[in-house]
Amino acid sequence: MLRFFPQKDKYIKEAAEHEFDPSLPIPQHIAIIMDGNGRWAQNRRLPRVAGHKEGMETVKKITKHASHLGVKVLTLYAFSTENWKRPNEEVDFLMQLPVDFFDTFVPELIKENVQVKVMGFTDSLPAHTQEAVKRAIDQTKDNTGMILNFALNYGSRAEILTAVQALYEELSAYGEALPELTEDMLGTHLMTGFLPNALRDPELVIRTSGEERISNFLLWQIAYSELFFTKALWPDFDSALLEDAIGSFQQRNRRFGGLKTKEEEE
Ligand code: FPP
Repeated sequence: MLRFFPQKDKYIKEAAEHEFDPSLPIPQHIAIIMDGNGRWAQNRRLPRVAGHKEGMETVKKITKHASHLGVKVLTLYAFSTENWKRPNEEVDFLMQLPVDFFDTFVPELIKENVQVKVMGFTDSLPAHTQEAVKRAIDQTKDNTGMILNFALNYGSRAEILTAVQALYEELSAYGEALPELTEDMLGTHLMTGFLPNALRDPELVIRTSGEERISNFLLWQIAYSELFFTKALWPDFDSALLEDAIGSFQQRNRRFGGLKTKEEEE
């Protein structure tokens, strides 16, 4: 199938190559770096914030599609600890987005049985953002379907440092008889620690907009994740591209450092 994406005022061709097979396992936890809102807006001679607004609509569509496909956790990188460096006007807009998003979308999330969670340094968010987030978490807390996990004011190095500090304080109470430090102990103290163990690490990380880097996102948790990069800008990302990414995941041979091949598993 040939797909077209706007790129610097012209459309470039990109093939969606990976056949999605609904009978094969899908990644249980998908994490997405939603990049390219600004470029999407600039391509249309619109202010950057118009790209974020359209990006919010994409979040709604992708949340519903991921939930229908049976994804268990969808983690979305909505605001990083570095995003405060942007102009005030853009930061203010980004801080208002969760309010608009939850105000308009919570009824649908409830209908879809989706549970909202937020990870990040949320104490530093403006009061109205914190309140909207708390409300959405509370309103969806009894839902038992997909977890929609927003990374808001999130940065992975700071997350790891905070977890190590918390562990250090806990362990210092043991004095000489220090227990052995395990990966699981650190994993529990990370911001994904609220998830059941088997779901903490994303199996698939998607980044849109053609950039191929991780940008301080889930550094510990993505040790064995499959990575999928697409040139599509986030507002252009759609259900077909999500299936393309999952199709790519399904064709990969995950060995976790071992030697097992797909054929040997069968
Ligand atoms: C990166 O694109 C995107 C962001 C920093 C914000 C992400 C926010 C959304 C997708 C809106 C949805 C949010 C919620 C809470 C529902 P960029 O601005 O860096 O794009 P550029 O690289 O093209 O400039």
